[in-house]
Amino acid sequence: MHTQVGIVGAGPAGLLLSLMLEQQGISSVIVEDRSREYCEGRVRAGVLEDGAVEVLTAAGVGERMHREGLVHNGIYLRFGGKSHHIDFPELTGKHIMVYGQHECVKDMIAARLAQGGAIYFDSSETSVHKFDTDKPEIRFRDAAGNAQVLTCDFIAGCDGFHGVSRPSIPAGVLSFYDRIYPCAWLGILTDAPQVCEELIYVHTPSGFALFSQRSETVQRYYLQCATDDDISNWSDDRIWSELQKRLEGEDKPNLVEGPITQKSITPMRSFVTEPMQCGRLFLAGDSAHIVPPTGAKGMNLAVGDVVLLARGLEAYYKKNSMSLLDNYSATAIRRVWKYERFSWWMTTLLHTFDGTIPFDAKVQLGELDYYTSSRAGMESLAEQYVGLPML
Ligand code: PHB
Repeated sequence: MHTQVGIVGAGPAGLLLSLMLEQQGISSVIVEDRSREYCEGRVRAGVLEDGAVEVLTAAGVGERMHREGLVHNGIYLRFGGKSHHIDFPELTGKHIMVYGQHECVKDMIAARLAQGGAIYFDSSETSVHKFDTDKPEIRFRDAAGNAQVLTCDFIAGCDGFHGVSRPSIPAGVLSFYDRIYPCAWLGILTDAPQVCEELIYVHTPSGFALFSQRSETVQRYYLQCATDDDISNWSDDRIWSELQKRLEGEDKPNLVEGPITQKSITPMRSFVTEPMQCGRLFLAGDSAHIVPPTGAKGMNLAVGDVVLLARGLEAYYKKNSMSLLDNYSATAIRRVWKYERFSWWMTTLLHTFDGTIPFDAKVQLGELDYYTSSRAGMESLAEQYVGLPML
């Protein structure tokens, strides 16, 4: 089997790349170890920057997103028992869209299959080879167990943090930069009405909470918990009482409780690999970098990588030029580090860590006060939250 671009992974990065390549008449095949149902059900963050919305729309997957997604004009930062609004259109002229990542994935899989695109779900033993030559290969067993060799001109490693692409790059080529945070997020989905028209990020001395949404009737809430916490420690009653407690204060919003339909604990880490390429293997999305969820940047970063990679591949096939591809990592990594910084900063701004000295706790409150009262501070936060340029 031969294709121009072999893509490992049917997450947001791999799927979007295949759709963008199709529009340029460039062929691709996706190899995915998981089932279609697993990919479509993997609940992740749900905030899309303006720029990501534009890219997805241009790729032909905007229809349901524009119909069902929730356009937001800002966020609230809540601390000291009081909410402070950051007004995005007023500060930046831009909005954000709240639409679950797995909804994007469903739309992209449907669109790609409708084009007749090949996605090998339920593959196994996937491995990448010969990317130091101009005839790389992806080898795998398809769902029926048949051994397959996919030869291609380039490989896109879009297979996430635990994927095979990054570890296949020879030792010594990559450098890794890593930070593990001393907390995790307990996330729930609940069938309940919205607590507020916009997202509320809450700092309290007993920990962070986030009130996000999926629709008018389904809400996504998070609580900071310990890294070694177990989901069995969190009964529904305990979750609701902790969510109510973290919202307390003079303008406490009315948090209506409903049945909890999903619960999970997510660790918090930052991770970057440099460079994001080796020969004809290019890493995009979580295979190259991880951000803690506080800034809601994971999928937005992946979209930025894919825009650059698609442009590079287009320049190669249309103009026979390798220069954008040669510079892919150097270009992408500048945006990556700005987003890493923002995600780390939002995390340290809003969480309460054990063992913090009283001076640092006061500085944190001073910082929250600055970023919710100074126009320059609010503009800086808003500019990064709605998204920095992709190119
Ligand atoms: C979410 O809706 O899942 C979400 C929103 C904002 C974040 C993280 C997660 O910062």
